[in-house]
Amino acid sequence: MYRYIINGGKKLHGEIDVSGSKNASLPILAATIISGKTTKLYNVPDIEDVKTTLEILKKLGCKVKKDKNKIIVNSKDMNKTTIPDELMRKLRSSVIIVGAILARFKNVRFSYPGGCDIGSRPIDLHLENFKKIGIKIDENSRYIECKYDKIDSKNIELDFPSVGATENIILATIIGEHEITINNAAKEPEIVDLAMMLNRMGAKVYGAGSNIIKIVGVKDLKNISYKIMPDRIEAGTLLIAGAITGGIVKINNVIPEHISPILSKLEETGCEIKTSKDSIYLVANKHLKSVDIKTMPYPGFPTDLQPIFSTLLTVCKGTSIITENIFENRFKFMQEIQRMGAKVTIEGKTMIIKGVKRLHGADVESTDLRGGASLVLAGLIAKGTTRVSKLEYLLRGYQDLDKKLNELGANIVREEGD
Ligand code: UD1
Repeated sequence: MYRYIINGGKKLHGEIDVSGSKNASLPILAATIISGKTTKLYNVPDIEDVKTTLEILKKLGCKVKKDKNKIIVNSKDMNKTTIPDELMRKLRSSVIIVGAILARFKNVRFSYPGGCDIGSRPIDLHLENFKKIGIKIDENSRYIECKYDKIDSKNIELDFPSVGATENIILATIIGEHEITINNAAKEPEIVDLAMMLNRMGAKVYGAGSNIIKIVGVKDLKNISYKIMPDRIEAGTLLIAGAITGGIVKINNVIPEHISPILSKLEETGCEIKTSKDSIYLVANKHLKSVDIKTMPYPGFPTDLQPIFSTLLTVCKGTSIITENIFENRFKFMQEIQRMGAKVTIEGKTMIIKGVKRLHGADVESTDLRGGASLVLAGLIAKGTTRVSKLEYLLRGYQDLDKKLNELGANIVREEGD
């Protein structure tokens, strides 16, 4: 494995393209199973989570070709319906493949998924709602088994607008003669991207992006090409990196509307922001001020950018209060940033940050994917050298973060380490 050696204190300056979205790619790759045909995908990020998903597709019998950001999946000869345990553990979003296998074969076998340790992350909402539409579930063995003869037309309601549960129900109900309405559905842009891809294949998914989604089952799907949307979390990370270093950055290939709560919070800190249709320009030329943040489902402040924004707040003037409403274990990364001089108190789902002038370099360990990116940003503003280890988390979700930041003027070296 690698670690990053970061020599802090360089202001970022320049422009950079954002990669395709991780969280859109994963359900869209799962959707390629349903058609039994060929799907060409463009702008897929070259990251570990995509590689793990492709490994699962191959194990299930799909043919996969990958050329950097272009992926072709042919699922015609797919013949297996059990998701291998070791791959399921590696990646939480592997649970999305369950819905896609169900749509194609009416049965699936899998074990509980793994993923980042940021909270308990159960799948009760997925299973509960599968049951409501006539899918039978047997949880008695080492594996969970789901099967059905026919999906029942139903109006269902999620207790919480879970992104994964919304995607899984959409995928599971694409094929058939039923009509399903999901109330209190998640509204995240990645769900809109999945619905657009499925509809291009010939599916009938209506209302994605609102809290009521209707799926009308169809007989079959067709071959398509599709370009994945930009990664709004990477876009936010790069902008916040610009802000923390007091830099001037422009990010391209982005949909500004997708990160509007980040842009308004950055403006509140004192950054100047200008947007065009597909780019964002940020100037951070003064000492930034503290702001309060509360994470919420979309269109609220995204939990995935909470660790990264909180890192910026450790060096802003004044006191910030962060409330994490989505995942209960999402402040772990801050213990490492405290070792770099951050002044922070944590109580339950609230974190109070007292801004300091600057952090200092230290040897730190990533605790999860976005926590890993936070440590890199802390390293950019720290005095001296920061070594970030356990990069396997970060590499799950960021394509070339070190290279992109170096192109903007950072000094990050990748070296062999733990
Ligand atoms: C997705 C994103 C992740 C993001 C999260 C919230 C992907 C691959 N991952 O994760 O980056 O942080 O949305 O925006 O797209 N919950 C239950 N029972 C369930 C399902 C969820 O209680 O069956 C709870 C979770 O514990 C959590 C909350 O609902 O507290 C949100 O989870 P969910 O929206 O499902 O997140 P994921 O789909 O796992």
